[in-house]
Amino acid sequence: MYCIRKVTDDLLWIGGNDRQSPVFEAAHPVPRGMSYNAYLLLDEKTVLFDTVDRSVQSQFFENLDHALNGRKLDYVVIHHMEPDHAATLGDLLLRHPEATLVCNGKAVNMIRQFHCTDPSGAILVNEGDTLCTGRHTFTFYAAPMVHWPEVVVSYDSTDKILFSADAFGTFGALNGYLFADEVDFERDWMDEARRYYTNIVGKYGPQVQALLKKAATLDIQMICPLHGPVWRKDLGLVVDKYAKWAAYEPEVKGVLIPFASIYGGTETAANILACRLAELGVQVEMYDVSVTHYSYVLAECFKYSHIVFAAPTFNNGLFDTMEHLMRDLCHHNFQNRTVALIQNGSWAPASGKLMSELLCQMKSMELLEAPVTLKSALAPGQEQELESLAQALCASVKGEQPSVKEEAPQDKPRGFVCKICGFIYESDTLPEDFVCPICRRPASDFEPLG
Ligand code: FEO
Repeated sequence: MYCIRKVTDDLLWIGGNDRQSPVFEAAHPVPRGMSYNAYLLLDEKTVLFDTVDRSVQSQFFENLDHALNGRKLDYVVIHHMEPDHAATLGDLLLRHPEATLVCNGKAVNMIRQFHCTDPSGAILVNEGDTLCTGRHTFTFYAAPMVHWPEVVVSYDSTDKILFSADAFGTFGALNGYLFADEVDFERDWMDEARRYYTNIVGKYGPQVQALLKKAATLDIQMICPLHGPVWRKDLGLVVDKYAKWAAYEPEVKGVLIPFASIYGGTETAANILACRLAELGVQVEMYDVSVTHYSYVLAECFKYSHIVFAAPTFNNGLFDTMEHLMRDLCHHNFQNRTVALIQNGSWAPASGKLMSELLCQMKSMELLEAPVTLKSALAPGQEQELESLAQALCASVKGEQPSVKEEAPQDKPRGFVCKICGFIYESDTLPEDFVCPICRRPASDFEPLG
């Protein structure tokens, strides 16, 4: 049975909702499901805007058959060739060989790659090209890397609708409501819209800014994305968010504390820091990165102005779940934040140095203080270090001059660590004939702490 909603008098939503797949694109949990939007225009010509993911293909073809109501399909506009939209394109062309594809040259290459077929007679569109379908005229604009290189968006100058491909999409199935103004978007959808943007398109901020610049020249009254609700009111709400996200600007002046903790020592320090920040009136949020999927924490990193990464050393490296999060931030071109670190290591703390190295791979990351170093757990008297860090973070969040920093004694470790077993020899000098009491390796296998 068909399941369709009317967008305008002659435009129909004919997509589908998948609430069974636990993850999107084999990576991101989607506990609220996922929508795959496709639209059909019933003008003098009929025009299908994109197909759908395999998971909803049965519903989509039922919708398409019903909506066409015996008419032939004249055009298929392909905005994006990623299989969550184009997986059913091959089947569609078998069912509707009469349809003419409208896409760019890069999409044609991808059709060959994904569907092993050479689309004949396709109309290739470049920047600014138009397609008239009767009452409507569509203009095409390239949007490379929002989210793949072949992406185009199209603008219907008749009804002032932007078909925006992945841009302005969200995670989450449409539960009967098609339009953003039919739901409380800020309360119920914005977190998932942020998580979708940051994880899917977050790497490509400059390209999104380029698209926003083109869109700003158009009179847009409606946005039809390929995922999530259609925008026909308050478009500024989502456009303003996109401008911030694409510029890697935080939405909230406050402190996010993503932490990993094996036996609780690091978590306790993170909790104490959060308490001091809360007492100072600073907005603070915490996530255990071993429990909360990194896609959620990455989105929160985009949201907050200040981040304290807290993690233990593990096998002489950085604990895996924190390393995963920080590498993911690097891969998403994350930048422009003020950060601090809490490291832990029972015999050779190294997580601070390794987190610093990962931060060095990101642009414009300001390290506020030297790392707080824990040895297994916060030692008596070390609360003062967290108090100082909270004060420094508070001053920075509130835009005050940072206080003069006092380096914690633990920040300048004296001694040498065995590269083989991690034994630490605490002294300014290491005797040449020294032998590790644990693994019996010579002094040449030691390196200075730091
Ligand atoms: Fe929704 Fe980039 O595909």
